[in-house]
Amino acid sequence: MKAVKFHGHGGHDVIAYDEVADPDPGPDEVTIDVKAAALNHLDVWTRRGMPGVDLEMPHTPGSDAAGVVVDVGENVDRFERNDRVAVSAGVACGHCEFCRDGEPSMCVRYQIIGEHRPGVHAEYATVPADNLVPVPEDVAWEVAGSSALVFQTAWRMLVSRADLSPTDSVLVLGASGGVGHAAVQIADHVGGEVYATASSEEKLGYAADCGADHVIDYTEKNYADEIRELTGKRGVDVVVDHVAGESWSDSLASLAKGGKLVTCGATAGGQPHTNVNRIFWNQLSVLGSTMATPGEVDDVLSLVWDGTFEPRIRQVVPMSEAARGHAMLEDREGFGKVVLKPDSEL
Ligand SMILES: NC(=O)c1ccc[n+]([C@@H]2O[C@H](COP(=O)([O-])OP(=O)(O)OC[C@H]3O[C@@H](n4cnc5c(N)ncnc54)[C@H](OP(=O)(O)O)[C@@H]3O)[C@@H](O)[C@H]2O)c1
Ligand SMILES: [Zn+2]
Repeated sequence: MKAVKFHGHGGHDVIAYDEVADPDPGPDEVTIDVKAAALNHLDVWTRRGMPGVDLEMPHTPGSDAAGVVVDVGENVDRFERNDRVAVSAGVACGHCEFCRDGEPSMCVRYQIIGEHRPGVHAEYATVPADNLVPVPEDVAWEVAGSSALVFQTAWRMLVSRADLSPTDSVLVLGASGGVGHAAVQIADHVGGEVYATASSEEKLGYAADCGADHVIDYTEKNYADEIRELTGKRGVDVVVDHVAGESWSDSLASLAKGGKLVTCGATAGGQPHTNVNRIFWNQLSVLGSTMATPGEVDDVLSLVWDGTFEPRIRQVVPMSEAARGHAMLEDREGFGKVVLKPDSEL
C-alpha cells in the first residue's frame, strides 16, 4: 500500500508518497480503508519537528481520516468489516490520575495519532478501536474525514473550558483555519454575538457564512480597537485564540471584565508579550485546552453528522500531492479544511 511519509524533518520537500508494508492490526486495533483524510496545522508542526517529540523515521503523518473497516483485531467487538468509521486522534493511557478522573486529554502520557505515533495519511490506516467513531451512511467521506480533530478541539474550548452561555459574546481569531471555522459555528450555535477575524475579505465572507455576525480584517485595522467600538467599549465575554504571537495582547484587550481567553495553539508564536495588569484588573481567565474526551467527541460529531455543523472544504488534494496541501496551510491559502484522498480513490 501507499502512504505519505517523511524520512527526516524539514520543508515540503521531505514529503513523499511511497510504498510501505501492508498493515496488520494488533489485538485491540482496527484497519480501515481510507476514503478521505484531512490536514491539520499539527501535520506541519510534526513535519518540521517539535522539541521533545522524537519520532521513529520514516514517519507517516496525519490525525484525521475516515473510511471502511477492512480488518479487526481479536479483542475488538465494537466494529466489524464494512463499518463506516472516522478517526479521533487522542490516545490516553487509561490509568493515570487524570484518566481515572475522566480527563483523558490531560493524560500524563497523552499521544496524538500522527504526532507521537504513526498517522493516517495512507491508503490503509491501523488505529486502536477506541480511536474510531461510527459514521452514518449519509455523511460524505470528505466531511467524516475532516471534522474530528478541529470540531472536538473547538467544542471543548468553548463548551467545556469557557463554559459558553447563550448570552456570551465570542471573538474567534483565525476564523479561516480548521479550528477557527469550527469555533465560529459552535459559538453561533451555543453562544450569543459572534465576532471573527481573518486576513482577507474572501475569508471573512466565508466566516460570515459560518455564522459570524461581525467580521474584522485584522490586516486593515486593529481588531481590539474594533471590538471596543462594536461593543460600546465593553469587550467580548470569550476570545478563542489559536494564533498567539503578536495577537495575544490584543486578545486580552478585546475581553470584557471577567472575560475568558481560551487557547489551544500558538501558530504565530508561543512566547507572546502579555499584559498582566490587564489580567488582574479586569479579572480575566486564561484557559488552556487540548483535544477532548470521547464524550465530547461524540457530542460534537453528532452535530456534524446531522448537518448542524459543517467542515468547509478548501480543496481535495490527491495524497501524492500532500506537499501541496501542507503549503496551502503554511501559506494561509483558502478557508476551512484541506482534504487528502488516496490517489486510488480519485
Ligand atoms: N491543542 C490542541 O488540541 C489543538 C488542536 C488543533 C489545533 N491546534 C493548534 O491550533 C492552531 C490552528 O490549527 P489549525 O489546524 O486550525 O490551523 P490552520 O487550518 O492552518 O489555520 C490557521 C489559521 O490561523 C491564521 N494565522 C494567523 N497567523 C498565522 C501564522 N503566522 N501562520 C499561519 N496561520 C496564521 C490563518 O488565518 P488568516 O490568514 O486569516 O490570519 C489560518 O487560517 C495550530 O497551531 C494547531 O497546532 C491545537
Ligand atoms: Zn492517562
